Formats: sequence, C-alpha cells, structure tokens
Amino acid sequence: MPEKRADSTLEIRDLNVSFIQGEKEANALRGISLSLKRSEVHSLVGESGSGKTVTSTCVMGLLPTPPARINTGEIILGDQDLLLLGEKDRREIRGKDIAMVFQEPARYLNPTLKVGDQITEMLILHLGMEKSKAVDRALEILELVGLKGGKRVLDSYPHELSGGMKQRIMIAIAISCNPSFLIADEPTTALDVTLQLQILNLMLSLKNTLDMGILFISHDLRVVHDISDWISVIYAGRIVESASRETLFADPKHPYTKLLFESIPDADKRGKRLQTIPGKVPDAENIPGGCAFHPRCPIAEEICRTSQPETKDLAINNRAESHTAACHFIGKQWKN
Ligand SMILES: Nc1ncnc2c1ncn2[C@@H]1O[C@H](COP(=O)(O)OP(=O)(O)OP(=O)(O)O)[C@@H](O)[C@H]1O
Ligand SMILES: [Mg+2]
Repeated sequence: MPEKRADSTLEIRDLNVSFIQGEKEANALRGISLSLKRSEVHSLVGESGSGKTVTSTCVMGLLPTPPARINTGEIILGDQDLLLLGEKDRREIRGKDIAMVFQEPARYLNPTLKVGDQITEMLILHLGMEKSKAVDRALEILELVGLKGGKRVLDSYPHELSGGMKQRIMIAIAISCNPSFLIADEPTTALDVTLQLQILNLMLSLKNTLDMGILFISHDLRVVHDISDWISVIYAGRIVESASRETLFADPKHPYTKLLFESIPDADKRGKRLQTIPGKVPDAENIPGGCAFHPRCPIAEEICRTSQPETKDLAINNRAESHTAACHFIGKQWKN
C-alpha cells in the first residue's frame, strides 16, 4: 500500500453555492457544514433535489463554475482549504486523497478504454508507477473489490461487463490510489437489491481494510441504517439534523427527519399504507423564506415562515455526543 497522508478529517464549512442562469439565481447550497472523519461512514440523506450531488461535486472540485458560483465556504483537508487551490492542485488531490464513486458507472467509465487501462492510468498518473507494476497492482485491486477473472477482466471494455461489475470497477478506480476519503453518490441506486447489499458490504469492508472515511449519499434511510456511523439530513441546501446513527434512529428531532422515517416501509408497517411527505423539495430558484421546510411541515407556526431557525446542538448541556437540529420547535410532537 502506498504511504498515507496524515489527514484525519475532511471538513465542509458553511458552503454556499448558487447557479446563475441569466437573471436568475438558484441557491443550491445554503450553508452546508459537515465533517467526515477517517474510518467513519457519514451518510448524507435527503430527497431528490436537496443538494447532495452539488455538495459532493463541489468537494471533488468538479463543479463547473460558471454556471455554479461558490459564494462562501471552506473545504478543509489537513491544513489546506481546497477551495483556494488551483485546478492543478485539485487534480492532484482528486483520486489520490479524495475519490468518488458515481451513481451511474456507465456514464463515468470511458467506453473506449479497457477497464484495466482505466485503473492503471490512475496509478501511473498519481503514484508514478511503471506500467508493469501498475498492472500487478490493478490485479490486486480487482481482488480487493471482489472481481474474479484477473487479466481477463482488465482486458474487458465496460460494455462487456454487467452493471454490478461496472460498479465494482468504478470502486476499483476510486480506491486505486488508496484515498483517505471516498465520496459515494448513491452508488447502489441503479442496482437490484441483492447487488446493492453486496456493494454496500464491499464498501464497508474496504473502509476497514483501507482506513478510509466515506461520505455516503442516499435518499433512503433504510440503506444508510446498516452502514453509517453518522448521519446528516439535508433539505433545500441545508443540513437540518445531524447525529450518530444510533441517536438519529432512536430519537429524531427535526420534523423532516421524522417524516422521512415514516416513509420507510418496515416489517411492522406491512399492510399499512405508507406515509409519503406531502409536497416536494423546493426548486433551488424558489426556496421559501424562514424555514425552507415550513410549507410541508406539520408543526409550522408563524415564526417558521419569517425566520430561519439556527442550528442548535442538543447535546451540549448533557455532555453527550453532538446532535444538531435546525428547527424552531425541536422535538415537538404532532398527531397524524
Ligand atoms: N447545473 C445546474 N444548474 C442549475 N441548477 C442546478 C444545477 N445542478 C443542480 N442544480 C439545482 O441544485 C439543487 C440541488 O441539486 P442536486 O443535484 O445536488 O440534488 P440531489 O440531492 O443530488 O438530488 P438527487 O437525489 O435527485 O440526485 C436542485 O434544485 C437542482 O435543480
Ligand atoms: Mg444527486
């Protein structure tokens, strides 16, 4: 294994990103803060359009500016703010320190290059390996990601592989340079249930073997339950609640988190009609004032329409672990 840098945390601080389209401004991220520790899975959960992919592509330095504009924020890795670095330095970090697995491998794998060349390219580019060494290493990586067939797989083109194999190749490319952090943007959504489980288990075992931190992005609390150490819930470009997996599942505080839980099918609810959250995530161009969730919130009052709630740490007084939520009426109950 190549030597690792000593960075133990990747921290996003107060990230504000908008998209400028002519006269219009879409506020995609409105003060995202979260921290990802090495050896930990931190899941970012929210409905479609909440800002998950914008967050991850911004961390990767892959957000096209324009049309995107980073208004404020820091992305701290070690002693550097990645947002202050030029493209050459970002490229160096991408793949080597922070890597990403995408939802649709077919879109991100190069169809004209053998998958082996796509893995060795990373090793040659980032680690300066000679081709023959890179091929040996690529064969080891294939084993790590559970792909049998060695040289035959390396000599395949993406279209010759199944969906599950392609996703494993994406993961192989992502981990090839032994990154400290891996961002997985809905890596299993396109796969069937059995494959989803296999890929999730693979990612967990790689996290342990390679000592990586994983930012795991999903719209599904069921999927993140088994793998997360920490969970942050995102709504309309803000983190509305963040806690350890145990705390969030045992004692969710934000009405949005509670409603997300109510829309999970589980064994006890079988046969009952599932709740879906009424309404939808606002368009980034039209974020409601006050608390952005207020039009869909069952406990909203006047203050929720006029004033954006601060993020409070509920654990600060009882010295328990941090549990933050942004709601004027944290923990208030309602009847369905
Ligand atoms: N290139 C773009 N131009 C304009 N608006 C954009 C652009 N990319 C994203 N947005 C807007 O930013 C907001 C967040 O989008 P994002 O893709 O991050 O959502 P997401 O949480 O990843 O959703 P999904 O679960 O569907 O992948 C949305 O309102 C989206 O319309
Ligand atoms: Mg997305």
